[in-house]
Amino acid sequence: MKSLVTLLKRFCLPYKGRMVKSIFFNLLSALFGTLSIVMLIPILGILFGTNEMVNDPGTFEMSHITTSLKNHLAYWITCCINRFGGTNTLLIIGGIAVFTTALKTGFMFLASRELIHIRNGVVRDIRRRIYKKILALPIPFFSEERKGDMIARMTTDVQEVEASIMSSLDMLFQSPILIIVYLSAMLYISWPLTLFALVMLPVMGLLIGRVGKSLKRKSMEGQNKMGDILANTEETLSGLRIIKAFNAESRISKRFDGEVEAYRKIQNRLMIRRSLAHPMSEFLGTGVIVLVLWFGGLLILNQVGGLAAEAFIGYIAMFYSIINPAKNLSQAYYNVEKGMAAMDRIDLILNADNSIKEAPNALELKQFTNAIEYRDVTFGYTDERDVLKSVSVTIPKGKTVALVGQSGSGKSTFVDLLPRFYDVKSGSISVDGQDIRNYKIHDLRELIGNVNQDPILFNDTIFNNIAFGVENATQEQVEAAARIANAHDFILQSENGYNTIIGDRGSKLSGGQRQRLSIARAVLKNPPLMILDEATSALDTESEKLVQDALDKLMQNRTSLVIAHRLSTIKNADMICVFHEGEIVERGTHEELLAQNGIYTKLYQMQNF
Ligand SMILES: Nc1ncnc2c1ncn2[C@@H]1O[C@H](COP(=O)(O)OP(=O)(O)O)[C@@H](O)[C@H]1O
Ligand SMILES: [Mg+2]
Repeated sequence: MKSLVTLLKRFCLPYKGRMVKSIFFNLLSALFGTLSIVMLIPILGILFGTNEMVNDPGTFEMSHITTSLKNHLAYWITCCINRFGGTNTLLIIGGIAVFTTALKTGFMFLASRELIHIRNGVVRDIRRRIYKKILALPIPFFSEERKGDMIARMTTDVQEVEASIMSSLDMLFQSPILIIVYLSAMLYISWPLTLFALVMLPVMGLLIGRVGKSLKRKSMEGQNKMGDILANTEETLSGLRIIKAFNAESRISKRFDGEVEAYRKIQNRLMIRRSLAHPMSEFLGTGVIVLVLWFGGLLILNQVGGLAAEAFIGYIAMFYSIINPAKNLSQAYYNVEKGMAAMDRIDLILNADNSIKEAPNALELKQFTNAIEYRDVTFGYTDERDVLKSVSVTIPKGKTVALVGQSGSGKSTFVDLLPRFYDVKSGSISVDGQDIRNYKIHDLRELIGNVNQDPILFNDTIFNNIAFGVENATQEQVEAAARIANAHDFILQSENGYNTIIGDRGSKLSGGQRQRLSIARAVLKNPPLMILDEATSALDTESEKLVQDALDKLMQNRTSLVIAHRLSTIKNADMICVFHEGEIVERGTHEELLAQNGIYTKLYQMQNF
């Protein structure tokens, strides 16, 4: 329950006002509920003849307020009976009871209404927070967590929190108030009987708590499994082409079958256990009632404790009214335990540490004037293996530096360090003499344009995909960028021109078209620094020409870092760095490198034969 309190503190604080209102309405509801029962007691007394008719209420004294109230009520009833007769009095009293009950349920509704606002608001807040956090978290975080599992945390886990914790808010706010108010009334009617009933409570609590404990663990298992299932589904969807090509349908569906079966088993155990809450509390409640009946009967029969028969009936009615909130409370407890597991999974994202931090007094970086310098940069994705080993390169403004080398030699890693997708392990990268970790991250990334082997596009219009990095881009600007990127013609030929929706990740376009869109996007952003990571290697020769031409235009008058697959495209680079197993083993212009007759020469010859 402690975790629940912290949870409420974390998420419900903005809804303080509503919370107070809800508690207030619940309190009123409980008071009117009690009133509707309590006022029946003297009537029953008079009807049964165990209470005398009262013809003189006496003076009202504050010091004996309850006796005075009782006398006045009895006097008023006596008057009624004398005037209208017994049956009519019963009707009048019944009418009043209906009225108080209407007030009770009315306030209950008002209280629930406040809670609904809180509940949906909190769920929206949680979703927003996760999304913001996902956007803020650095890229390394996501290489460890599977995408589908992330989606599960955002969807099913939030739903679980909503279904279990938030739906329990109602009961958590209402039941304790009802119980306290009813219990006070019961204590007032007969304290020995109430104490007797209260002794039973710890026994009940113990039994209920036992089952609740294992619920959280089981629920955690279930949510984790759900994460696996979604991760699996996501992989299947994105890998459908390969699955079909390799006839792997049955293999992959076996894996899926196994996962959903495991999920079914966990859910069965979980739900069966949870469904124990209701029957168990109902059974225990009835047991307690029987015991209370027995003990109350003893009190009345032996005439101890001053308990009258009609008060006892009222008492039992009250006790019966407690059973429901108590049942709800135990149900809510079970639900909360279950939901807490989902909350823990969500917290893994919300509380994740952002390893790429901006310096407290980060500097602005509005333009790039001089040079980028990598100095003794060492980096590894894991502690065990360094992917870059003490690499130093200077990239002067306006120059084109090309990186070549075997796949896996660390070229992409090298360029990913510049926009701080990752931070160096040792050494430093500086822009205009200042370590990039001292700049504002936003400013740093604003300077850099990116075109990768696998262009990342969104399921949106062509226009919006090109205008992605620029706010308020005009049609003219977007078209101009598309022209430079050799994309304008094919865009005009597509169904709705610039308003054509391109499908998931641009699936309705060819590889070359996708690439030209991503180039147009970079052209429009117009950054002083371009990073091209094997931008043409996934293309056929035909579209490669168009794309290469677009790239050449893009690189004009810019500082560029180019990773090239085909060496012919970077012959004219100002400097070529040859990567081998995380180190730069040769560097120089095309002619200088050929003259060295080393790795570069070998690579070059291989591609020319
Ligand atoms: N996200 C990652 N997590 C762990 N290792 C990685 C990751 N990305 C790349 N690597 C490893 O780093 C090395 C260099 O990769 P990369 O920079 O992509 O090479 P290149 O671009 O030259 O082909 C490879 O051995 C690769 O396995
Ligand atoms: Mg690469």
